[in-house]
Amino acid sequence: MAHPLLLDSLTMRGLTARNRLWLPPMCMYSVTAEDGCPGNWHVLHYGTRAQGGFGTIIVEASAVTPEGRLSPNDLGLWDDSQIKGHHYLVEAIHIGGALAGVQLGHGGRKAGTPPWRPDVEGSRTGTLPGWELVAPSAVPYPEHATPQALTTAEIADTVQAFADAARRAVAAGYDVIELHGAHGYLIHEFLSPLSNIRTDAYGGSDEGRRRFVLEVARAVREAIGDDKVLDIRLSATDWAEGGITGEDTAALARQLVQAGVDVLHVSTGGNAPTKVPAGPGYQVPFAAQVKRAVAGMTTPGGGQPQVVTVGIIDSGLQAEQILVAGLADAVATGRAALRDPYLPVRWTHELGVNDWQAAHLPIQYWRGAWR
Ligand SMILES: Cc1cc2nc3c(=O)[nH]c(=O)nc-3n(C[C@H](O)[C@H](O)[C@H](O)COP(=O)(O)O)c2cc1C
Repeated sequence: MAHPLLLDSLTMRGLTARNRLWLPPMCMYSVTAEDGCPGNWHVLHYGTRAQGGFGTIIVEASAVTPEGRLSPNDLGLWDDSQIKGHHYLVEAIHIGGALAGVQLGHGGRKAGTPPWRPDVEGSRTGTLPGWELVAPSAVPYPEHATPQALTTAEIADTVQAFADAARRAVAAGYDVIELHGAHGYLIHEFLSPLSNIRTDAYGGSDEGRRRFVLEVARAVREAIGDDKVLDIRLSATDWAEGGITGEDTAALARQLVQAGVDVLHVSTGGNAPTKVPAGPGYQVPFAAQVKRAVAGMTTPGGGQPQVVTVGIIDSGLQAEQILVAGLADAVATGRAALRDPYLPVRWTHELGVNDWQAAHLPIQYWRGAWR
């Protein structure tokens, strides 16, 4: 096979990742996270996956306010004291040769609900007792507590919280700042008519529902300066009647690029308990739709917007076919990388490349290359 596209570098603003394979954000709900601070466990977890060859690693959703966490064991960037732990994480990722990114999130009406921790009481049984929920409107997610609708002053504070967390992410050394605009959390809740029934400037129309995310994007771009990559994860569709559609997201993507976003990381769902037709590559068509929408646009930073696809992409060949078909610029693979931190090494081999130098894999491991 010719040199695989998956192993081509990916340039975003002035930063270049060694390949087009991303580790997507995955909350670990690790009891070793204290007060939002990453510990040694996180350094090992992310560092190993950087050593394993990922080009860009996005650290799990890190909350911009304490009440925006999904569980007491989420990471956070709401306080300067959390910068140091994140800095160790960034160092470990850089040593492994990957760009380091972090996802900034607020759980909105789904905060206080760890989606998966069989050993933690309260997991999957609804909102943790005493957790104060805020959202665009007082519309609960099924079986969750009813949130308080944010006032306009609180919305401004939350925009500021995203900007402050982004500034801390930069202080920690992150290259990529990813906004969590997907999976039914606060930004997505503003975007979707299923969860936003406001009648003021932050609801009522596409323009109103998009106001919050665009304000966050502009404030975060301002906070991180011109050199860092701004990325956003979006749920392209709610998979539900009356919810967001792929066309809505394609139009929004153009506005986000104008607001200073460099990368669109396209996922789906999470804002309504609907049946999702999940299968191999099932979200790729949505990424392709976004990619078509932003084609030819130039980011204010002077580069091309890049589109990342994710969702049951479990082999090097499948990833390569997506890139060759021009459906996305990069591919993220999550659960498969929980099974195997060296997945990029394996995919590289699967694509017929055993020259680990060419694949930019860690020099310390070259003697282990397949022969
Ligand atoms: C354990 C776990 C935690 C996750 N946490 C997050 C998260 O913090 N932020 C996010 O946007 N998506 C999160 N996701 C979704 C993944 O990033 C990814 O989109 C999803 O697993 C589909 O990709 P895959 O089929 O390659 O696993 C999580 C998924 C898993 C399995």
